[in-house]
Amino acid sequence: MEKIKDNVGNTHKDASSVLECDFPMIEISEVAEQESWRKEINRPVYHIHKWWATRLGSVFRAIVLGALSPPGKGIWDVFYEKHNFSGKVVLDPFMGSGTTLGEAVKLGAKAVGCDINPVSSFLVRQAFTPVHDSKIKAAFSSLEDKVASEIKYYYRTVDPHTGGIIPVLYYFWVKTVFTPTGEEIPLFSRYVFSQNAYPKKKPKAQIVCPKCWGVSEGRYDDTEFICGSCGHEFNPQKGPVSGQSVTSKDGKLYRIKDLLSEGGSPPKHRMYGVLALRQDGSKIYLPAREQDFALYNEAKKRLEEENLPLPDSPVREGHNTNQARGYNYKYWRDFFNSRQLLCLGMLLKEILNIEDRVIQEQMLCLFSGVLEFNNLFCSFKGEGTGAVRHMFSNHILKPERTPLENSVWGNKKSSGTFSTLFESRLLRAKKYLDDPFEVAIKRDLLGKRLGSSKVVASSPVEAKIVESWEELDSAEKGLLVLNGDSSKLSVPEKSIDAVITDPPYFDFVHYSELSDFFFAWLSPVLKDRYEWFSRADSSGEGEVQHKDPLVFSRQLSSVFSEACRVLKDTGVLAFSFHHSRPEGWAAIYEAINNAGLAVVTAHPVHAELRGASPKTAAKDPISLDAILVCRKREFAIVDKMEIKDVCRAVDTLAGKFEKAGMTVSNGDRFVIGAAETMIARATDDLTFDQMKKVLTSVYSAVRV
Ligand SMILES: C[S@@+](CC[C@H](N)C(=O)[O-])C[C@H]1O[C@@H](n2cnc3c(N)ncnc32)[C@H](O)[C@@H]1O
Repeated sequence: MEKIKDNVGNTHKDASSVLECDFPMIEISEVAEQESWRKEINRPVYHIHKWWATRLGSVFRAIVLGALSPPGKGIWDVFYEKHNFSGKVVLDPFMGSGTTLGEAVKLGAKAVGCDINPVSSFLVRQAFTPVHDSKIKAAFSSLEDKVASEIKYYYRTVDPHTGGIIPVLYYFWVKTVFTPTGEEIPLFSRYVFSQNAYPKKKPKAQIVCPKCWGVSEGRYDDTEFICGSCGHEFNPQKGPVSGQSVTSKDGKLYRIKDLLSEGGSPPKHRMYGVLALRQDGSKIYLPAREQDFALYNEAKKRLEEENLPLPDSPVREGHNTNQARGYNYKYWRDFFNSRQLLCLGMLLKEILNIEDRVIQEQMLCLFSGVLEFNNLFCSFKGEGTGAVRHMFSNHILKPERTPLENSVWGNKKSSGTFSTLFESRLLRAKKYLDDPFEVAIKRDLLGKRLGSSKVVASSPVEAKIVESWEELDSAEKGLLVLNGDSSKLSVPEKSIDAVITDPPYFDFVHYSELSDFFFAWLSPVLKDRYEWFSRADSSGEGEVQHKDPLVFSRQLSSVFSEACRVLKDTGVLAFSFHHSRPEGWAAIYEAINNAGLAVVTAHPVHAELRGASPKTAAKDPISLDAILVCRKREFAIVDKMEIKDVCRAVDTLAGKFEKAGMTVSNGDRFVIGAAETMIARATDDLTFDQMKKVLTSVYSAVRV
């Protein structure tokens, strides 16, 4: 048989797919980087709802394409061509937002996706459900007729210049704490509450007065300021908060934590500012005035009178949730103020009245996404950028000291509202199913980058969502979306052509703790329809997530073993991975090994997340992922490699990136080195500790 060489010169004479020997790492990295700047626009179908660590579609298109194609033509040569892998089946056992599934069906294959998290299974079903444009627009109009004006009623104020009623875009709030002597302290670290994202260019800023709560215009860097309302002189850069402490008027320093009542309710909030939209389209900052407090109180009173479908589940203890619980956020309902609960509740109630279940669920998915931008954990990003910083900007649940209240229905100048996300998320995602496109880099004749374009390289996505393997098997096209632990799949042995996935990393995102936020709203309304919503929270037994690498490795191994069972002997299992520490890689090695698999090739590629473990993040940011390509152990034949070969491979691959103008950090070099070590030691059956030792020496050996 012909000897096929990969990107570091290893031969793969028994390769059954082109992915085992070829990956256009530079070209795909460039496209992926382009995609990552506006992923919601470039792959809207995977961004119909929040999910964490969603992967880049172009990378996964290349992986699926390579995994389903026999050795021969290179992946890049046919990347922008239309393909039809009908009859082939791709599995993703860690489905997330459905990136692998989408790319597989775009290439004409069938796909099976499984996730243990009910929110994932729900959102993926919604993402791939085709709906007629006119139907969904009609449903939106009907909702608009029924609830929009009722909701918008609660987001209005008076224009002080004209006396007219104008819509409010945002309300500004601040948390307050009480000292033992009864002094109420607002948790401001500065009194500048709005400034431009590029303040040096646009220094204008909004400042709130600590004495009268008046709002005046100043500069972002003012250190001496006279309040335009009461004449009070103060330094806008010096609020009572510094780090984790506050200073009272008499100069006493308190830890904020010590001022939170133990076992009580979350801190009080005070509304202090309003950003409203004037009739001529300009925006105006105002202090919170009597009418604003009165309107809020009206909403609060109405909430008490209404019977609305609101969440009542508790926030369980956990890695991410404990920070919120420390601020007495014990119920998911506490994450919202009364007006938010009222308006979200009214909207949800009306959505539940939609008779067409398919359309109703599309709207439920949109509604759930809106929650992320309408709660007290959101904050203001400033002028000149998307105004609302959503609650999950760092994969954590951090109580916000100065929350931003968005308007639930919104208007044309809003972001993160029901009406704006309807256009930017839902309609865009549905359109992508009809016109799926790829991002391409435009260059001049000399190869200089000119920008990007969209290239249609797939037929419309027409894969029907089926409910069982039997149904999928007999259909020409289809998508099987499962919910459950992927270590037990209802899929027959040796039936899958390729397993393409992105597993959880052992100390990264705690998916189910975060997704409980959505689950708390969705479960009560969906639990009678989907049995997987009928549970206390969105966690599930078997969830791969543990801070101990050995436990994590065991969990991952049971899913990989199952994937190995359902995989055809000729198939590959490929997944993306990066980690900054030897134990992260040793855990993966052990999981692969115990599952009866072996890594045969590794392809570094530009990753979506610039991440590393907190300790090394600043020094060695990682921007590469390794695509680890595995075969069943008995079919994994690779050239023997020594550590010196690993180092040489790192130099070769890093050199290719650098030649293409991409920087490669020591963190990235370790990603490449660790991935190559997985190949070098693939069949050596090392223990976790032995592999960790090898990887520790690679860690030092590959640094420059
Ligand atoms: C890294 S994410 C996948 C992200 C995905 N690649 C994307 O682009 O959206 C990992 C997923 O694995 C899921 N998961 C964890 N343990 C699981 C298990 N035992 N069975 C199925 N899914 C699991 C998590 O809920 C999470 O959605």
